[in-house]
Amino acid sequence: MATIVGSIATSHIPAIGGAIAKQKQQDPYWKPFFDGFPPARDWIAKVKPDVAVVFYNDHGLNFFLDKIPTFSIGAAPVYHNADEGWGIPTLAPHQGDEDLSWHLIDALNANEFDMTVCQEMQVDHAFTLPLELLWPGQKCNLRTVPICINTVLFPLPSALRCYRLGQAVGRAIEAWDSDARVLILGTGGLSHQLEGKRAGFMNPEFDQVFMSKLVDDPLWVARYSPPELVELTGTQGVELLNWVAMRGALTGRVSLVHQNYHIPISNTATGLMVLAND
Ligand code: DHB
Ligand code: FE
Repeated sequence: MATIVGSIATSHIPAIGGAIAKQKQQDPYWKPFFDGFPPARDWIAKVKPDVAVVFYNDHGLNFFLDKIPTFSIGAAPVYHNADEGWGIPTLAPHQGDEDLSWHLIDALNANEFDMTVCQEMQVDHAFTLPLELLWPGQKCNLRTVPICINTVLFPLPSALRCYRLGQAVGRAIEAWDSDARVLILGTGGLSHQLEGKRAGFMNPEFDQVFMSKLVDDPLWVARYSPPELVELTGTQGVELLNWVAMRGALTGRVSLVHQNYHIPISNTATGLMVLAND
């Protein structure tokens, strides 16, 4: 049976792609952000994952505002990135894991999650940049399964529903007939708002509590409805739902390996957490 080695949550701001292309990692603006990642890479080298299941939200590349599924999953042999208009390099494609995708699709369907199944799927910065931060130089050769959560257009799924989705994914991975070692990623957040009267809004107090609760009391955040989460974290801060799903997929004893928090990068309060699953 497959093993879930743990999870990593990170912010996914497009400007990171530009900073990497221009090698700005040591620039004073970027250093406190990029310095968070070597301990995460060291942990990856220890736990040796073969497959990454990535909870993230699409920003208009694969789904546009005319059609946005609440929950969708890739079932493709390969996932291509494309120009989203941010002026950053398009990154190399990532290989899929069709066997795990279809196993998850069947298990989720049996567990009352009606996923939109994408046999072709483009992946945006929210998928590619976390992998690039963790395996710099486009060196990520893990097989991948993208799972997309709608965090962009109301109605949004509740934090409890996202946690339950993660739990169903975690149980299914553990029942998967494979000796693969699986890493769960959650991308986005933390607090940020890109548009409107509150553009630039961030809430470090909330972010810090959210991060600390995510380890031992992950349903703490479920006391807030999606509109309340938007109020507390900003219109894009609600991307934290991807972190909640990620945490739901951890089945064992969860412990914090590493975290970093830095504010701001672009318009965003950035967070990074590495959680072991023993
Ligand atoms: C920014 C943050 C995001 O999460 C995103 O998807 C796009 C832009 C930003 O802060 O610039
Ligand atoms: Fe985003």
